[in-house]
Formats: sequence, structure tokens, C-alpha cells
Amino acid sequence: MLCMVFLPVAFVVAWSSKLCPHQCSCYDASELVDCRSRGFTHIPHSIPHGTWLLDLSGNRLSELRSTSFTGIWVLRVLLLSQSNMQVLHSKALSSLTFLEKLDLAYNELRALPPDFSRGLTTLKDLKLSHNALDRLESHALENLESLERLDLSHNHIQVIEVGAFRGLTMLRHLNLAWNHLTVLQGGLLTMQQGLGVLLLNHNNISKIETEALAPLQTLTILNLEANQLRSLKFKTFLNLQTPSTHLQMSENPWTCDCELHRVFSKILHVRHLHVDDYVNITCHLPLLLAGASLGLMHSQLCVAETATVLVITGTVMVTVVAALVMAERKRKKQKMSLEKQGNDPMPWETRK
Ligand SMILES: *[C@@H]1O[C@H](CO)[C@@H](O)[C@H](O)[C@H]1NC(C)=O
Ligand SMILES: *[C@@H]1O[C@H](CO)[C@@H](O)[C@H](O)[C@H]1NC(C)=O
Repeated sequence: MLCMVFLPVAFVVAWSSKLCPHQCSCYDASELVDCRSRGFTHIPHSIPHGTWLLDLSGNRLSELRSTSFTGIWVLRVLLLSQSNMQVLHSKALSSLTFLEKLDLAYNELRALPPDFSRGLTTLKDLKLSHNALDRLESHALENLESLERLDLSHNHIQVIEVGAFRGLTMLRHLNLAWNHLTVLQGGLLTMQQGLGVLLLNHNNISKIETEALAPLQTLTILNLEANQLRSLKFKTFLNLQTPSTHLQMSENPWTCDCELHRVFSKILHVRHLHVDDYVNITCHLPLLLAGASLGLMHSQLCVAETATVLVITGTVMVTVVAALVMAERKRKKQKMSLEKQGNDPMPWETRK
């Protein structure tokens, strides 16, 4: 009797442990496979077909080959961070059609293969932070139609081809902080109507194109700290038609003039826009104001401007008045000399 109960249990244990890759630990009837930091240089063999979560982080994989994961159809979570990964080959992940979370952070990837996103139509969360990517090609992410969170922070991205985010219509959280972006192009985020958080801090952005923010109707956080912004156009932010958006814009080399003061006062007066770090927005130029807070400089900047306007107006008026006076004098002089000519006796008359 006891034997009959015991036998199937023993069989199940033996069967599943047999399927667990050598050196890894498997849990929950092999649905969770933990191969963390085991010194693997290749994806281990015999990963159970029913694996739901596979943790391979902290190994020394260096590359992912085309057929690395065939057979693990139902995989939902794949963790590959800190694995010295330098190259992802074409079709490396395309068999993972149920994958929801992929962590490739802290590797050495310089590029994504053009078909990187093929098959990953259910992926919701993608981490590619702390790699060496320098550009995003327009097709690399095109199939990620379910993606909600994308972390590309701490790379060297200088160029994002327009169209790179076109397929990402479900995106809510986009982290592009700590890259080398120089411009936020209009047309880049046209399909991101549900985007809530956009992190662009610690880049090299000196220009935000006027239409760049217009599609973002639900944006709640826009972080632009530590970029190369010197000035802003009010229209760019007026285009941000959201219920409520918090902006962070300190640590930029602002050129404090009356125009910048006006733009910020207008932004501060738009009810749904909030500049969270306004107290920390400081001037870089003019030199005389370097380090001063824009908020405290406010009235002075425009006083100076008003004074300039007054001086210019005054100068113009003086010039005009002077010109009028001169003209009048000249006219009188001419008139006088004409009259004089008229009154003077003719030379031959005096001789008479
Ligand atoms: C930032 O942009 C400037 C030119 O605007 C360039 O000289 C500089 O190297 C860039 N820095 C980085 C870190 O990309
Ligand atoms: C302003 O800067 C100081 C010092 O860097 C920091 O402690 C503070 O939290 C900042 N305030 C805001 C509102 O960002």
C-alpha cells in the first residue's frame, strides 16, 4: 500500500530532476529554473520544455546564437543581465513567442540585430540598460507591440532613427536617461499616446523640436535634467495637452534673459504643467548671473530689457526730433536766403 503511493512520487521527483540542467536549481516542477552565476559560457542544455522563468544572469555567455532557446515555448521571463553579452545573433530570441519580460541589462551589447524584436509580440518589459548601444535602427523594435516598459538608460545612444518607436503603441514608461542624445525630434514619439513617463535626463539635448511632445496626451513625468538646454520655446510645451505633467529641467546651461523668464512664467501659469525643480533652475549665461536662480532673477531680467527698450526708444526719438529740427532749420535758412535774394538790390542797381 505504502509502496504504491510512494512510487509515483519518487518517479516524478526523479523525472523532473533529470530534466533540470546540470548545475542549475529547478523549482515548482521545473517551471522556475535558476542558473544564476554558475560560470556558464553557453546556454545549458536540457532546459525543461515547460520552463516559465529562466534566470541565467551573472554568467559569461558573450553571445546568444540563433537557436539558443528553441523548444522552451512557454517561457515568460528570461533574465540575462550581467552575462558579458557582446553579440545577439539574428533570430536569437524569435522562438520566444510568449515572453513577457526580458532583462539584458549590464551587458556589452553595441548593437541589436535588425530582427531583434521578431516573435516578441507579447513582450511587456524590456531592459537594455547599461550596455554600449550607440544608435537605434528604425526596425529593431518594430514587433514589440505589447511593450509597456523600455529601459535603454546608460548606453551611448546618439541617434534614434525616426520610426524606431513606431510599433510600440502600448508603451507607458520609456527610459532614455544617461545617453548622448542631442535633439528630441518631432515624429519620434507619434505613436506613444499612452506614454506616462519619459526620462531623458543626463543626455546632451540642446534642442526640442516644437512638435516633439505634441502626441504625448497622458504624459505625467518628463525629466530633462542635466542636458544642454539654453533656451526653450513656449509652444513646445503648450503642445503638451495632458491632464497633468511634471517637468524637471535643472542642471541645464540656461541663458537667462527676459525671453527665458517669459517662457518659464508662461509654463508656470499653465495649470496642468508643473516645473518641479524650478527653484533649482540656475543661469549659466550671462556670466554676471552665472549660478543665480532664474526664479529670483525674474523681474530684474526684464527690467534690464525694459531699460534697453527705453534707451533704444529714447535714442530713436531723439534722432527723429533732431532730424526734424535740422530739417526745419534748413528749410528756414533756405527760405531766408531766398527772401534775402529777393530783397537785395540787384548788383547793377547798386552801381547805378
Ligand atoms: C555633446 O554635444 C556637444 C556639441 O553640442 C559635443 O561637443 C559633445 O561632445 C557632446 N557630448 C557628449 C557626451 O555626447
Ligand atoms: C534642489 O537642489 C538641491 C541640491 O542639489 C536638492 O537637495 C533639492 O532636492 C532640489 N530641489 C528640487 C525641488 O529639485
